[in-house]
Amino acid sequence: MKTLGIETSCDETAIAIYDSDKGIVGESVYSQMKMHAEYGGVVPELASRDHCLKIIDVLKEAMGKHSLSSIDQIAYTSGPGLLGALLIGESFAQGLSCALEVPLIPINHLEGHLMSPMMEFPEISMPFICLLVSGGHSMIVDVKSKGEYEILGQSLDDAVGEAFDKVGKLLGLPYPGGPHIEKIALQGNPEAYDFPRPMIYSDNLDMSLSGLKTAVLYTVQKIEDLNDVAKADVAASFQKAVTDVLIAKTKKTIELTKRTDVIIAGGVAANKYIRSKFKQLEDKMQIKVYYPDLKYCGDNAAMIAFVGSMMKPGQYDNKISKVRARWPLNELEK
Ligand code: KG4
Ligand code: ZN
Repeated sequence: MKTLGIETSCDETAIAIYDSDKGIVGESVYSQMKMHAEYGGVVPELASRDHCLKIIDVLKEAMGKHSLSSIDQIAYTSGPGLLGALLIGESFAQGLSCALEVPLIPINHLEGHLMSPMMEFPEISMPFICLLVSGGHSMIVDVKSKGEYEILGQSLDDAVGEAFDKVGKLLGLPYPGGPHIEKIALQGNPEAYDFPRPMIYSDNLDMSLSGLKTAVLYTVQKIEDLNDVAKADVAASFQKAVTDVLIAKTKKTIELTKRTDVIIAGGVAANKYIRSKFKQLEDKMQIKVYYPDLKYCGDNAAMIAFVGSMMKPGQYDNKISKVRARWPLNELEK
């Protein structure tokens, strides 16, 4: 069975085909990042227009030699995300599903991230813990079974990726700051600045990152010569502070839930420093930590097609609009 996945929730136009026997057999991702970089962040109106401009070419590239008539069902991201951007993907998916006379399945974008490592590691079985860290979300989810997700903790303010991006901006790095901070931090001293680790010892699993970002702002304002060495030190110290919080909260989660499998997903999961610290936790706590393939850490349609493929053929078909900007994981229809 072939599922076509469509993702347009933010600034990536992506389409992929998941074959139940062979896995991903076609995919294409067009990133609008360069266009938004000029404005220092995603401009929703421009994102919608660009999805319209690129979606046909992205479809053609993803299809390759596959014919549209071989598609058995269509899965698309219906939320959460930018409303205008989501509507482009949904309208496109509705049109295709009517023309091809195949079922249409709305998918929660966050569920796509949660499940993404299962494409590569079929040995992962539920229940597991997912630390979902992206530009828009930071949460610890207990994945009990497909569709049954309990949010154990989340950021009360900035998402982890958002904090990376804001600190990137303070250091004059291009948008999005995350990968650039990781790069320059390699030359920096993580002990140079003792930034706060907000809520690290709180007795719940929530996080807060805006205080850390503000502490970085005040530090940067006091540095007389913000040269490359100073920037690297700030980046390394910030990255360490964030990682300490993520490690502490994950450790607490394991102790509370006794789960042994942890998935780290979302754009921030690409960070190698964070991965190295989780490797230490893995060895210390005898847990297994999984990541999506690097190309599936950020937004992509493979994860959407994959979640769609988990539906039994014909189990779900909805041609009516399901788009929603806000759609918490614990409010999925079962
Ligand atoms: O999952 P994603 O592509 O989009 C959503 O937010 O849904 O995540 C993008 C976020 C951005 O904030 C970006 O700076 C961050 O992930 N990111 C990173 C790294 N690569 C991407 N943050 C830290 N280190 C990285 N290597
Ligand atoms: Zn995402």
